[in-house]
Amino acid sequence: MTVTIIVGTQWGDEGKGKITDLLSRDMDMVVRYQGGNNAGHTVVIKEDVFKLHLIPSGIFFANVQCVIGNGVVVDPAVLLGEIETLQTKGFAVNNLNISGQAHVIMPYHKDLDKAQEKRKEAGRIGTTCRGIGPCYVDKYSRYGIRIADLYNQNVFKSALAWNLEEKTFLLEKFYGMKVDYNVESIMEEYLGYAHAIKKYVVEESSSLVNNAIKKGKKLLLEGAQGTMLDVDHGTYPFVTSSNPVSSGACVGAGFSPKAVNDILGVVKAYVTRVGGGPFPTEIEGGVGDKLREWGHEYGATTGRPRRCGWFDGVVMSHAAKINGLTSLAVTKLDVLDKLERIKVCVAYEYQGKEIKDFPTEIYRLEQCKPVYVEMPGWQESIDKVTDYKYLPANAKKYLDKLAELAEAPISLISVGAERGQIIRI
Ligand code: GDP
Ligand code: IMO
Ligand code: MG
Repeated sequence: MTVTIIVGTQWGDEGKGKITDLLSRDMDMVVRYQGGNNAGHTVVIKEDVFKLHLIPSGIFFANVQCVIGNGVVVDPAVLLGEIETLQTKGFAVNNLNISGQAHVIMPYHKDLDKAQEKRKEAGRIGTTCRGIGPCYVDKYSRYGIRIADLYNQNVFKSALAWNLEEKTFLLEKFYGMKVDYNVESIMEEYLGYAHAIKKYVVEESSSLVNNAIKKGKKLLLEGAQGTMLDVDHGTYPFVTSSNPVSSGACVGAGFSPKAVNDILGVVKAYVTRVGGGPFPTEIEGGVGDKLREWGHEYGATTGRPRRCGWFDGVVMSHAAKINGLTSLAVTKLDVLDKLERIKVCVAYEYQGKEIKDFPTEIYRLEQCKPVYVEMPGWQESIDKVTDYKYLPANAKKYLDKLAELAEAPISLISVGAERGQIIRI
């Protein structure tokens, strides 16, 4: 196992941070390949709870090189805040690199994100309002400002002035928002950030990644968000603006698919979603509220309550197919401890027929009703179990069902937020 991609199989927050941290001690390099500080990856080390938004979750191991790849969008103020938090906790953060090709989130991206959400009213995506979508729009429109541009004042100034003219017009004349952007003051602010992060910046991080692969080093690609939030393969338009799926790793870190050995899908034992959009197995009230309470299901980035629901096998098999999962890390199994009966969605009913392929249009998805099988719960606490053989028989049966729906074996089972609460198979 040399190159492993870690990917969320649902709507994000599956526990990718915990699993990345867990595997990082045996890695040489951990790379974030897409998204930005819309992500919130939690790593619990004894009494310390770290919520990483931009920095790869391998950062706690000084000998692991951590890379923010070309596919990530970077808010430099957030990045600096994160570095500072880690440093005050005793992590030197000398093992971080940032791609010069990564795009920079500017103040107008955040304002546009808010203005566009406001305009959508009932159809709101419920974005994190971190400017992620508008920054990716500029990237693909070829208006974007990249980290490397911050070190070329002429390039930066002309790109910024050009953008400010357009964005001021849009925000004021179209969205009716009062803005007061000034080229000089924004430049000064961002040149300050550029100075502060300079020691981490590399011209293009793909060389680091490819050299490591060539030398047979062990690499972990840490996906953010999840398959169902993928702009192509998720519940469009209720998605994020990047490709969290495994193939996105090659683009967002700049290496060949030939190099990939393992694709580990992180699978929460039930399903959560933050923000708007369809969620067939959502449970409103009742058990849904219990899962939120037991699983502390509140956003690591925005603090919003997460919507909770039963495990969705249709979503699981869609994720297994799109990502080519080679194994699964099932997380938060302990959250189901108290349930007497547990439902698992094995198909959808659509226009009187059972379907197992995930509908790509939300208009069809909205007409789908989950078809459930019910399984008995185990009703005992498993958060101290570290050996598979000591799991209750009903927990094993539940895991078998998940693996069957994914058509992939389970290699890790997480039974608590802390590092030690893990069962390796
Ligand atoms: P990520 O975005 O995929 O990294 O996931 P988040 O960090 O946003 O959300 C996962 C939450 O569940 C965090 O608060 C983790 O500390 C916590 N967590 C992770 N694994 C487990 C587990 O197995 N059991 C429990 N109870 N909590 C877990
Ligand atoms: P991690 O990496 C859960 C959701 C937002 C919203 C949609 C679009 O921690 O799993 P955006 O700000 O990206 O334009 O918002 O995507 N979203 C996430 N939900 N976990 C995340 O990241 C998310 N990142 C974005 O709530 O519905
Ligand atoms: Mg998260």
